[in-house]
Amino acid sequence: MTSGLPGVAEQLIRGRRATRAFLPDPVPDETIEAAFRLAGAAPSNSNTQPWQVEVASGAARDNLAEALVAAHRAGRRTVDFPFSEDTFTPAHQHRRTAMGAALYGALGIDRDDHELRAAYDVQSLSFYGAPHVAMVFAPDSGDPRLTADVGMYAQTLLLALNAYGVASCPQALMSFFADTVRETLGLTGGKLLFGIAFGYADPAAAVNTVAVGREPLGETTRFHR
Ligand SMILES: Cc1cc2nc3c(=O)[nH]c(=O)nc-3n(C[C@H](O)[C@H](O)[C@H](O)COP(=O)(O)O)c2cc1C
Repeated sequence: MTSGLPGVAEQLIRGRRATRAFLPDPVPDETIEAAFRLAGAAPSNSNTQPWQVEVASGAARDNLAEALVAAHRAGRRTVDFPFSEDTFTPAHQHRRTAMGAALYGALGIDRDDHELRAAYDVQSLSFYGAPHVAMVFAPDSGDPRLTADVGMYAQTLLLALNAYGVASCPQALMSFFADTVRETLGLTGGKLLFGIAFGYADPAAAVNTVAVGREPLGETTRFHR
């Protein structure tokens, strides 16, 4: 077993999982602030720190979930970053399909059962029961380099939360309701990339046992020596 700092990093990075069922217990404000302060240590192009993060808890969280579910039911979708299935190469599609099979398998939902999947979207838009959600925005320019910085921030945040014992799930689904999020939170700008539901994991939920693997290193990384 790896020890020392590499051992801690293995535990921290591999111990993070997309969590899709949460206990209702709120995370103390001091813990939330400590984790978000730590996440701010993420690197960015020329230290621009171009992320804008809006964290909703309590009544603000409940209003947001209600507005998202209403927009979903009304089919009122708005995106800041256009989405197309063509984005994915066959290799990406293969990994997506395997991930979907693992998730829907654990939930007992048939992939072709659109009604049940839509019902599951309601749970997703209710942040899987998490008492907190962070909406993560990129600058209005949508510049890919700055947007990549926001990705750096987001992973740092997920790890910081994990270090403080807080589980999370990044959720691109929320980005399909960008106007609803802005209206509900009273925001006038920013491009919504995703939301991050966070709180304490429900240890009894079968969905939280879903563990997806990764491709062998050589599939994504080549070493030139
Ligand atoms: C940018 C981004 C968007 C995601 N969107 C969703 C989502 O909308 N719903 C969801 O349940 N999981 C979502 N996930 C979680 C991924 O499915 C998950 O990270 C991936 O399957 C790997 O599993 P792991 O995080 O447990 O290692 C998202 C993850 C990322 C990084």
